[in-house]
Amino acid sequence: MTVIAFHDFANSADWQKKLQPYLDGFTLVDLMSEEGRLADIALVWAPPPGRFAEMPHLKGIIDKGQGVDHIMRDPTVPRHIPLVRLVDPDMSDALSHWVILAALDFWRDAGYYRQNQRQKIWKPIVQRPATGAVVGIMGVGAIGSVVARRFAMLGFSVRGWARTPRLIDDVSVYAGADQFSDFLDGVNILVSVLPLTPETDGIMNADLFNRLAKGAYVINGGRGQQLVDADLIAALESGQIAGAALDVFHQEPLPDTHPFWDHPAVTVWPHVAAQTNPNTAAKQVAAAISAIMAGREPDNRVEWARGY
Ligand code: OXD
Repeated sequence: MTVIAFHDFANSADWQKKLQPYLDGFTLVDLMSEEGRLADIALVWAPPPGRFAEMPHLKGIIDKGQGVDHIMRDPTVPRHIPLVRLVDPDMSDALSHWVILAALDFWRDAGYYRQNQRQKIWKPIVQRPATGAVVGIMGVGAIGSVVARRFAMLGFSVRGWARTPRLIDDVSVYAGADQFSDFLDGVNILVSVLPLTPETDGIMNADLFNRLAKGAYVINGGRGQQLVDADLIAALESGQIAGAALDVFHQEPLPDTHPFWDHPAVTVWPHVAAQTNPNTAAKQVAAAISAIMAGREPDNRVEWARGY
């Protein structure tokens, strides 16, 4: 019997049901209980720091999200056992929908028309064609490449930036620190779907904003720590940046006193761009658990040195 410690145990019933068809002989227990302490596997999102170090039989940790930075930040997490992240096409789909929604809302002046509607003003402005915008996607791995391809299909001119060179149809890919400023030059809509690593911490700052086209739009679906909030506010005030759609923040929930809440050019989303869907994720979670229990290497194992 594989004992799986589940964090947020009150919501475990759905996972229990969804894992059943793919996994024989398992039980879900509360991560914070004594049975949880003695579990084989942890299936978690944002677990309390220090918990894994107290679990003598732990053979693997599976993150219920795409980003694992919150787990890697805990220095007590054992590194010799697999840490696995989700790479679920359903989540890539959802994320691409959110990014495209935010980008089109900006590019097609939806905010202007919403505001006019409130005052019953009928005042068309000249429509901007997709071919008029350069969309720059920071992070074109499993998730970002889906986003990039979909923007290309909509007719935008698309650039991607990755750690290493790669080929993506209809997308100009720039690689590494050397090509970063060429990637940024003149971008109209900048998107981050990057993982949080020491290299990406604070990457969206005043220097970066100044490289983009004047009046560019910023979409952050990566991590809040990638954005220097004060630099974004200053760039919005100067008009260098026209607006931003943000799904992730330094502190979540976003504190009541944060200026993003009231900024007219900032749209705040409560970390919902791509929610985990047990219907689609259960199969790969079960495959990872089976692999770990059989002593095999699971897919999507996090590389500690790489940072994701
Ligand atoms: C994340 C997620 O990693 O929501 O942000 O999966």
